[in-house]
Amino acid sequence: MIRRPRRNRQSAAIRGMATETHLNAGHLVFPLFLADGADIRSGIPSLPGIFRLSPDHLLREIESCMQLGLTNFIVFPAVADHLKDTTATYGWSPDNFYLKAAREVKKRFPECCLISDVAMDPYSSDGHDGLVRDGEIVNDDTLPILAKMSVAQAEAGFDMLGPSDMMDGRVGYIRRALDEAGFTKTGILAYTAKYASAMYGPFRDALDSAPKSGDKKSYQMNPANRKEALIEAELDTAEGADMLMVKPALHYLDVICLLKEHSNLPIAAYHVSGECAMLRAACNNGWLDFGRAMPETLLSIRRAGADVILTYFAKEFAQMFPDGI
Ligand code: PBG
Repeated sequence: MIRRPRRNRQSAAIRGMATETHLNAGHLVFPLFLADGADIRSGIPSLPGIFRLSPDHLLREIESCMQLGLTNFIVFPAVADHLKDTTATYGWSPDNFYLKAAREVKKRFPECCLISDVAMDPYSSDGHDGLVRDGEIVNDDTLPILAKMSVAQAEAGFDMLGPSDMMDGRVGYIRRALDEAGFTKTGILAYTAKYASAMYGPFRDALDSAPKSGDKKSYQMNPANRKEALIEAELDTAEGADMLMVKPALHYLDVICLLKEHSNLPIAAYHVSGECAMLRAACNNGWLDFGRAMPETLLSIRRAGADVILTYFAKEFAQMFPDGI
């Protein structure tokens, strides 16, 4: 035998040299749920290990992550029902606790990368990402709402905005609004290929943001489609996106790979709440070993082509693997 692939696997030193994919905390973004009030750290039953945090706890959490070399965060607000309305006006209200908390975070930790969520659902009494009119999610009238939300978030100091709403034309519309308001440096992490997935369940529990009626299939993508992701990627790129995201991640590794091959922009993948919950449940049952299954899972998302991974395991990864893998 001339070729013996096992020669490159025979010692840790040789395996180290032959390793094709690396992963460290710098590739990760940690999603955090923000609650209004003080001294709140409430668990989410369907997402063990993750908490809704009030701003004081959020600051502490970010500080402890920064000490682990984890510098990137995406924050989602849990908004009280009485602040929700059909046009999501609380999204850009000067009283908005999410915007206030962002200001505080960037003041205390200017070196972190703080990413927002742009969509109506946390603030909408209909629980949809867009404006609902006669039972329909209307596209073009949603855009000015998203733009107002975006400018308010940029003003609050978010480094990147994450439009997760899947309305047509929103990246370009938001980009123009940001530029007109002078926020030329605020980036856009576009949810490019966001699928109408069953994997968002624990997230919607965390924020109590499930749609009040219907589903999200008229705006989020059909899980059966691959080429459609390329159309979305083309549009988001032309409209000025700085990074493209695929969501969920594990169930859509082929789509991550496809976008990586077709785009020169950094590709992000969102390892969503349901995907994390499945693994956690199996580990908590003693069926899988978290210390091995978790890094293998994240590595598979990187190997598929993700430059950036949003995952609820980010902090644990940074704790368990300070030098990366
Ligand atoms: C909503 C939004 C969702 C997630 C991120 N932004 C849920 C949805 O579309 O219903 C899901 C993330 C996760 O499940 O971890 N704009």
